[in-house]
Amino acid sequence: MLVRLDKFLTEAKVGSRSEVKNYIKKGLVSVNGIPALKPETKIETKKDKVEYQGEVIAEKRFVYYMLNKPKGVVSATVDNVNQTVVSLIKEKYQDELFPVGRLDKDTEGLLLLTNDGQLAHDLLSPKKHVDKTYYALIRGYVTNSEVEKFKEGLDIGEKKPTMPADLSILQPGDVSEIQVTICEGKFHQVKRMFQAVDKEVIYLKRISMGRLNLDKNLQPGEYRQLSESEIQMLKEK
Ligand code: URA
Repeated sequence: MLVRLDKFLTEAKVGSRSEVKNYIKKGLVSVNGIPALKPETKIETKKDKVEYQGEVIAEKRFVYYMLNKPKGVVSATVDNVNQTVVSLIKEKYQDELFPVGRLDKDTEGLLLLTNDGQLAHDLLSPKKHVDKTYYALIRGYVTNSEVEKFKEGLDIGEKKPTMPADLSILQPGDVSEIQVTICEGKFHQVKRMFQAVDKEVIYLKRISMGRLNLDKNLQPGEYRQLSESEIQMLKEK
């Protein structure tokens, strides 16, 4: 793609637009080894080698991180009171990152963070019905009748009942271990679905989104970049 040199350098985070214009005029930027003195110089991003003070500047790219969100951190870019998920990702482009959807402050697990607005939009679009699977601990015995109710859809106080959800009982008990897959993303949806059957969620963790699974090696608060195949998988959903 052909772009102006000053725009390319700004997007690559070398400096603000006016700073990079100055660097260019001072001869600190070269294209294919030759100082480029005009900010409006056009470069071919895939072919031309751009250097600032001898350092090769890579094309701005999209980045994708999988975070195992810990409790107590909010799914936001800024917050005056609480720590945000974005503040945990101490990497280049941190200031452009945003979480793809939200997990409640007390929910743990898989949260995707990216600067790719299109992918985020596609994954969150209500029309796409991306499956989200949660592991949860529920106060009280969860029964097969509740499995059926989740399948039929529940009234959680919205205009329409929830779409069919796949509830599996992993271990019934005074505190039941369950797994549930929903294909919507309504506010507090899992908690409200259990409330609708008079039960309370006492621990909630997202373990997958679409075909992307939470990496079991990530402790709460840890993150890693998605692999190329994981990014592809998300785009294909
Ligand atoms: N459902 C909830 O109730 N909370 C979450 O964080 C995610 C899904």
